[in-house]
Amino acid sequence: MDSAPSPFPTGAEPAPWWTRAVVYQVYPRSFMDSDGDGVGDLGGILQRLDHLTDLGVDVLWLSPVYPSPQADNGYDISDYRDIDPLFGSLAQLDELIAALHARGMKLVMDLVVNHTSDAHPWFEESRASRTSPKRDWYWWRPPRPGFAAGDPGAEPTNWQSFFSGPTWTLDEASGEYYLHLFDRRQPDLNWENPEVRHAVYDMMRWWLDRGVDGFRMDVINMISKDVAPDGSLHDGPPIPGSALGSGYASFICGPRIHEFLQEMHREVFAGRPEALLTVGEMPGVTVEQARLFTDPARAEVDMVFQFEHVGLDHGTSKWEVHPLRMRDLKASFGRWQTGLAEVGWNSLYWDNHDQPRAVSRFGDDSPEFRRDSATCLATLLHLHRGTPYVYQGQELGMANYPFRSLEEFADVESLNHHVHAVSAGHDPADVLAALRTSSRDNARTPVQWDDSPHAGFTTGRPWLAVNPDHVEWNAAAQRDDPTSVLAHYRRLIALRHEDPVVALGDFHLLLPEHDEVYAFTRSRDGGTLLVVCNVGRTTYRLSSLLPEVVDAELVLGNLPEDDPAVLRPWEARVLRLP
Ligand code: NOJ
Repeated sequence: MDSAPSPFPTGAEPAPWWTRAVVYQVYPRSFMDSDGDGVGDLGGILQRLDHLTDLGVDVLWLSPVYPSPQADNGYDISDYRDIDPLFGSLAQLDELIAALHARGMKLVMDLVVNHTSDAHPWFEESRASRTSPKRDWYWWRPPRPGFAAGDPGAEPTNWQSFFSGPTWTLDEASGEYYLHLFDRRQPDLNWENPEVRHAVYDMMRWWLDRGVDGFRMDVINMISKDVAPDGSLHDGPPIPGSALGSGYASFICGPRIHEFLQEMHREVFAGRPEALLTVGEMPGVTVEQARLFTDPARAEVDMVFQFEHVGLDHGTSKWEVHPLRMRDLKASFGRWQTGLAEVGWNSLYWDNHDQPRAVSRFGDDSPEFRRDSATCLATLLHLHRGTPYVYQGQELGMANYPFRSLEEFADVESLNHHVHAVSAGHDPADVLAALRTSSRDNARTPVQWDDSPHAGFTTGRPWLAVNPDHVEWNAAAQRDDPTSVLAHYRRLIALRHEDPVVALGDFHLLLPEHDEVYAFTRSRDGGTLLVVCNVGRTTYRLSSLLPEVVDAELVLGNLPEDDPAVLRPWEARVLRLP
């Protein structure tokens, strides 16, 4: 079942460079601090470039470093053309571009243009009066008909924000509400207005002219809202247990999204000779839509960053989780591999700055299996077709933080959720337990460089606590250890560079119903790799499950070689079939 031919067949045009590339994501405030203020910065990234060279990654995706009040750690931008002094200066950004290029790497910036900060001068001007020339740059609406401003339920639509509560905040001075799909300090830009779009394109060209190599586009499939000819927006279906509703149908892949992305492509990227990368972060995107977004003939984006697999362990919300069922993961990954087989491209990831650490979530972070499950999950992911993303610290096996109290959290999503859930009557102990498992802060603790008191991240007081496990789990301890998680990532990245079957081979899923053994083949030009991963603690006899494996040549494995007929707990093998 689920056989997927390659979108870049042998003999046709050469496949784009990013089919063989691996992206490394830096979340700057937690990567490396060079000035002792406890917050990571550009100077810190410059100091640690050897780590990236040593790993062998091709692209650095830098989460936002622009001036920002930091309500959402930089995803609330107040100036698109500068660097926040917290992180450094434009001169240092230029230095970073040059240093990366000198090492053969590229820099992809985060582009956050669904919304700005409420401290952006565009919003300040927009909010100044109902007749401001920039009023229409954002979504301003009067209270719901029949309601007075500020009445409960007077919001123009019933949509729930991604960060809890309504998506509308009242501006007392003008008596109108403004839209924010995220925090109230992140007002949504009105992409219906061509001046907004052209201001964004101008800014993007400015960064490309400066030397950056592309953009990771934050929630870019939300920029088009379904607005009626009279300007009204529609209520969504009620969310059970809440007074609010879901607005997804009005803003996930809205009516003009393809038009906007094609216009952006024409205005910003077309005709540029450089090898650029455009990645559309798209929550809620379906395989069918992703195929349209990434069809090269349509000129929209190179690849999507989709969320289906990281939602498989969620209940009614991200705060309710259950263990991932392997069959669900196989069905989901399999469908994406097949759906983008002939046309399109996907990103491959477990970790990022919005997800709890995968080794704790999908792996087994007990001392016995942490290394093995981290390397097994990495092998499973990197051998699929798509562009793999490594999030800082993932290559070291970094795990969730042992949070004990609310005071230890910093993330706006977590803190807003706590306020709303507790005021809705949930038991604070349960809410805290949910934060512990699912908070984005799990991904945001400082990178563990060594076993010193602040893990070599800072000489000051880190803005978010360093995980106490850094005494054992750190880069210095792993650098020269061929059995480390870090060494395994190095080998996986090199394999993608060297073997066209890994980059481009057709995908075929095996054992779709098995609960713990995840297996598939990749084939191209007569060569076939078989990947088999045991995502659990049981030992399996491979001779009965996949007899063809037993005599195959081992290309890469995560455990010392032993009986080829036996698959040990959390063992992963990549084999070349004769
Ligand atoms: C997606 C980003 O990855 C996340 O960190 C951010 O909070 C939201 N978009 C809003 O910008």
